[in-house]
Amino acid sequence: MKRTACVILAAGLGTRMKSALPKVLHPVCGMPMLQHVLAAASLLRPEKTVVVIGRNMEQIRATVSGKPITVAVQKEAKGTADALRSGAAALGRFRGTVVVLAGDAPLVTAATLRKFLQKHRKSGNHLSVLSFRAADPRGYGRIVRNTAGSLASIIEEKDADALQRRIVEVNSGVYAIEHTVLPLLGKIRKNPLKGEYYLTDLIDVALRKGCSVDAFHIGEEAEFMGVNTAGELQRASLAMQRRIIAMLTDRGVHFISPDSVFVHPTSKIGSGTTLYPHVYIDAGTSVGSNAVIYPHVRIARSRIGDRATVKDATVIEDSVVRTGAVVGPFAHLRPGSVVGEAAKVGNFVELKKAVIGKGSKASHLSYLGDAVIGRGVNIGAGTITCNYDGFRKSGTVIEDGVFIGSDTQLVAPVRVGRGAYVGAGSTITKDVPGGALATSRSPQRVLTGWAAKRRARQGKK
Ligand code: UD1
Ligand code: CA
Repeated sequence: MKRTACVILAAGLGTRMKSALPKVLHPVCGMPMLQHVLAAASLLRPEKTVVVIGRNMEQIRATVSGKPITVAVQKEAKGTADALRSGAAALGRFRGTVVVLAGDAPLVTAATLRKFLQKHRKSGNHLSVLSFRAADPRGYGRIVRNTAGSLASIIEEKDADALQRRIVEVNSGVYAIEHTVLPLLGKIRKNPLKGEYYLTDLIDVALRKGCSVDAFHIGEEAEFMGVNTAGELQRASLAMQRRIIAMLTDRGVHFISPDSVFVHPTSKIGSGTTLYPHVYIDAGTSVGSNAVIYPHVRIARSRIGDRATVKDATVIEDSVVRTGAVVGPFAHLRPGSVVGEAAKVGNFVELKKAVIGKGSKASHLSYLGDAVIGRGVNIGAGTITCNYDGFRKSGTVIEDGVFIGSDTQLVAPVRVGRGAYVGAGSTITKDVPGGALATSRSPQRVLTGWAAKRRARQGKK
């Protein structure tokens, strides 16, 4: 098996984006464009991956840090050929096929890249170009073929004559280049119109040196869309989102209104799960099978178990909802919360670092923070864990089988023992032993006939 390396060109200035952020860090479906390209590239299992960045693009290093990726710096944006020269220098002693990708074409799939690489290897070419047919070829380099039908040159839009501009087979910006061809990059001359060194001119140079080159036309146009403007970024995001939704639909996920749902590329959803309109599944989330997510729910970096239900207008961040649990409507799970198996968290309940045991319920209007709540606990409406004294946070522990009456304040640190009861309207400041009843409310007084006497005093009937 021949060796593979990937070089991703990402040093362009991206001026058409009109943004201070390096172009390849703009998010497509919530994930930087470059990361999409790296994800596809990594599936080729390259021996080496190089990302070529420009000066003042140090932010890009942060995105690739921790990955087995080499960053090469192109000192000046002098064109795609110059960028690849900087990348090639970072390949060191690599021997084999170099797959060149553009950091601004985030929709490319690993399947197409694999097919392309196979064709390239089978052909024995020194250099292959991945081409596609564009409905509107404007802005792309045109593939010019000789009478035998093989690649003769690539002509950029600006250099093309009227006839060449009508060619619809265009350059995707993906190439497979044998390492032996890379030294020829130095022979490319500056394009007189743009003052840049065009990688597309490598075709000419290579042909003149007797190399075999060709263009392989594979994959769908949608995969090769280059993102150069905010409008194209939007279109790429939409296309990626539709691809994700289609893939999930194939796996048996139900979308009542697919175009209104967002699912981040890093998130997973199990079969049989239904998502209602306007659901936003953000990064790092997994939703199990046969779950139901009702409208206007946002879930980020969380795990939702099988058969769980998340009702309308609920926000869940960095939390876990276990099998069969029911959350919402209008619930807020803040980081570090766990809703146990078959537990229930109802409307206007806020959790923060709260662990709720199996089968426990907090059905209405509560704040539970820094709390560990056992199994089979009932938290009455309006219960508040007072976890903050203005200086530090303290914890509340509520053991299995406890009943907390409505409108209770638990002033932390405090513990309510197994099976205990807390009477409604209590402010609990001291631990409650297991099996006890605690109340802390003033006894009720009843003054019979008081109302009539007051009205008389006020001169009213
Ligand atoms: C390029 C191709 C064109 C092809 C199109 C596909 C050239 C000359 N043209 O045009 O044939 O149809 O891609 O989308 O190659 N870059 C650098 N350093 C530079 C300049 C660019 O790293 O000095 C990077 C960019 O960050 C980008 C990629 O190379 O990721 C392509 O550059 P871009 O300027 O977008 O080229 P296009 O005009 O789109
Ligand atoms: Ca481009």
